[in-house]
Amino acid sequence: MSAPEPAPSALSMSPIPLIEGAAIDGMAAYRALVDEARRDPEAFWARLAREHLDWKQPFTRTLDSSHAPFFKWFDDGLLNASYNCLDRHLENGGASRTAIVFEADGGELTTLTYGELHARVCRVANALRARGVRRGDRVMIYLPMSIEGVVAMQACARIGAPHSVVFGGFSAKSLHERMADVGACVLITADEQVRGGRHLPLKTIADEALAMGCGDTVHTVIVYRRTGGAIPWHAGRDVWLHELEATQSATCEPEWVDAEHPLFILYTSGSTGTPKGVQHSTGGYLLWAALTMKWTFDIRASDVFWCTADIGWITGHSYICYGPTAAGATQMIFEGVPTWPNAGRFWQMIERHKVSIFYTAPTAIRSLMKAAQADPDVHPARYDLGSLRLLGTVGEPINPEAWRWFAAQVGGGRCPVLDTFWQTETGGHMIAPLPGVTPLVPGSCTLPLPGIEAAIVDETGRDVPDGHGGLLVIKRPWPSMLRTVWGNPARYRAGYFPEELGGKLYLAGDGAIRDSESGYFTITGRVDDVLNVSGHRMGTAEIESALAAHPQVAEAAVVGRPDATTGEAIVAFVVLKGPCPLDGDAQRVADELRTWIGREIGPIAKPREIRFGEAMPKTRSGKIVRRLLRSVAKGEAIEQDTSTVENPAVIAQFSKAA
Ligand code: WTA
Repeated sequence: MSAPEPAPSALSMSPIPLIEGAAIDGMAAYRALVDEARRDPEAFWARLAREHLDWKQPFTRTLDSSHAPFFKWFDDGLLNASYNCLDRHLENGGASRTAIVFEADGGELTTLTYGELHARVCRVANALRARGVRRGDRVMIYLPMSIEGVVAMQACARIGAPHSVVFGGFSAKSLHERMADVGACVLITADEQVRGGRHLPLKTIADEALAMGCGDTVHTVIVYRRTGGAIPWHAGRDVWLHELEATQSATCEPEWVDAEHPLFILYTSGSTGTPKGVQHSTGGYLLWAALTMKWTFDIRASDVFWCTADIGWITGHSYICYGPTAAGATQMIFEGVPTWPNAGRFWQMIERHKVSIFYTAPTAIRSLMKAAQADPDVHPARYDLGSLRLLGTVGEPINPEAWRWFAAQVGGGRCPVLDTFWQTETGGHMIAPLPGVTPLVPGSCTLPLPGIEAAIVDETGRDVPDGHGGLLVIKRPWPSMLRTVWGNPARYRAGYFPEELGGKLYLAGDGAIRDSESGYFTITGRVDDVLNVSGHRMGTAEIESALAAHPQVAEAAVVGRPDATTGEAIVAFVVLKGPCPLDGDAQRVADELRTWIGREIGPIAKPREIRFGEAMPKTRSGKIVRRLLRSVAKGEAIEQDTSTVENPAVIAQFSKAA
């Protein structure tokens, strides 16, 4: 079987030309790789792992499936991730190459060469060792977008201490839960975070999290001084990052770990229960981070790469911390927000730094498109964006309108737009156009990368014909897949390799449809109770249990409603213990619940709308009728059959937002 040949079809092709001389140059080269991977997957991956990573001790085993779905890749090989991202670039003048250009919220710049980045990573790695951190110990990172964030992650990798980064927008309680679950011994944070001119007290939040009961395991809190603002201080436990660095040597022997050694644990939301710690390996993960920089982004020495994600998400792990450095690239890191001081900030930065590859989220594009339409001063046409050669999007479906605007107004009609589909669990891109290969179709993530056996199946695991929607699955293991859910292998097996599908297919949790002529995939959105708001992944169950924890709440149900800018908006249906609140009172309680969610989870989980009723619409067996709530949230007239609903009258109550 060979790769499908894209042809004009029901999907409408974009006229943007392909990049010449790309890492995978032309459809024939792509098909050759796809065929190589199908003929002998192990030989394919072994070849790539030898070519793209530096091994201290070469591996002799490529894939161990004896405990499937707990796969091992390259497991008798020894390597170090930080060595692969830093040391191997230092020879032949590489040390003076720019690794990072950091632009602070206020516009101040800091530039770091690979030599300087290496030295800082070594100093922090030595400092961690000096504080007793050993291979396998977990280090929590709660930092703003900063050079220090990358340094901290790489320092952990250097000594074989898996890191767990928590996004700075999560609350003390969320940080506490993750810190306790992962059993961290050190926390690295900052005094304050600065975004959009506002200061956020990270250290104070971190202290609150520690006071909730991780004090027994966390013996050291390392603090990066970002603003110098006043913060609480616990002598003995708390230490300044700059003071630690000043006392340490700028060289540090890496800890050589086996390829399966966990590089990091990153928490993400599932359809049920608490967030799960997605565990990634060192070898397989790093291979794909490095390789997709070449294959998808066609990264070159002359490029300035800019991924606008936060290091608290997987995109920041793979395409800020590890991918660009593994590829020896020059990248931008930005502290602030796209709309401050105005919505022209991204375009101004692309112009200022001559960014050539720009990777961002559909939500950002949609909101900047709206802003540009309202105010010509922040329109991309006002800026010189001639340095751009590739654009990419990630995190949520991109609607064709936003795609076309991005391509025309930002990319000037010259830059391929790479709609990259992937997940925290997949480690790197799974289905994405390749800039030298794939004719583009707005709204489609096009074809799977070579070696990725994506397919669409029905609820029993059988392939569905092209043109029919179904569940997106991956049929073969691939090196950068998650290895397990930290501390919960049963949840890994049941969640990602469900028995209903036969236990052998990796279930992504998204719906997809494949075009019968081109073979292109289009992602239709999550098929479980996971919401995607502005590209942030959240479980309805998490928000529901946070609401239910409020003393006044008897019951809560949360659904997503399509939103033109943020993709989805959170709508919460709430039954209070007391009487159903009216008008002004309802507004007051809704505000209080929003603040509550901000503290329980973080501001990103605050519901857009909260609606009150006297009871939940339920079936006779007591199940909340979510499909009705989804319709109500959308403001649709209820035409569905409500005969199975025990109390249809409550639907009318819920039809009004507080
Ligand atoms: C969604 C982010 C459509 C999808 C890298 C997936 C997308 C979830 C795309 C993973 C895309 C990501 N088109 N949907 N190009 N990229 N998604 O773990 O629902 O934060 O399952 O990883 O985002 O989100 P996560």
